[in-house]
Amino acid sequence: MSEIVVLEDEAAVARELAERFVTAARETLAERPSFAVALTGGSTPGPAYRMLAAAPYRERVEWSRVRFFFGDERCVPPNDPDSNYRLAHDTMLGPLEIPPEHIFRLHGEDDPSEAAAAYARTLREQLGEPLAFDLLLLGMGPDGHTASLFPGYQLYKENAALVRPTIAPSYMKVAHRLTLTPHVLNAARRVVLATAGAGKAEILAQVLEGPYDPTRYPVQIVRPEHGAMTWIVDRAAAERLSSAVRV
Ligand code: 6PG
Repeated sequence: MSEIVVLEDEAAVARELAERFVTAARETLAERPSFAVALTGGSTPGPAYRMLAAAPYRERVEWSRVRFFFGDERCVPPNDPDSNYRLAHDTMLGPLEIPPEHIFRLHGEDDPSEAAAAYARTLREQLGEPLAFDLLLLGMGPDGHTASLFPGYQLYKENAALVRPTIAPSYMKVAHRLTLTPHVLNAARRVVLATAGAGKAEILAQVLEGPYDPTRYPVQIVRPEHGAMTWIVDRAAAERLSSAVRV
């Protein structure tokens, strides 16, 4: 079961995302030595990352105990403007001076199959068993994709692979991608998916209220096995939802 939080605008979505991050970090660190978070790319999370790196959020997290991972990456070098790592670095990791040994990025500059295999090894080494993020951040594209799982992705042909190279449809800017598989996404202890704007209204209604068809709407495959999933959306994105869901 997922929780759907509808807020006024994109700024409120960013604030809520930052709040959820802080709460998840504090609750986890009260019980365990480190907090493992998988970051997302796209345009929605940047403002939240910037908030986290500034007062008052900055002081509320013990950053030295946070380990950063990525849910997906574009196959570009880390300093490329399209790199998800670069977005996170410029908005949050750099300003917070997170040491490189606490940042585990997908190597978009390497051969995609090798990069996927290398990241799977990194996840096994760093997370151990159960291989579960404490917090997984996601977004949703206007076609219903999440991470880099695009419509038509052979979701049901997955074996136990943790990370895969994928090809984005031609309407996306960077075709070659690396993505965590549903297997890993659904093991997360908490999932927070933020999306905003009128351009997401139609797809959000289809995804949340339409039939279950994850080959068409890959984000529907995200159903954490043991954790909770929260959608944080703004009023514009929620416009087509029935009032029952909109409360
Ligand atoms: C990426 C993402 C992707 C993103 C969605 C939503 O690398 O592009 O991880 O899944 O979250 O495309 O993007 P917006 O935040 O721009 O709506």
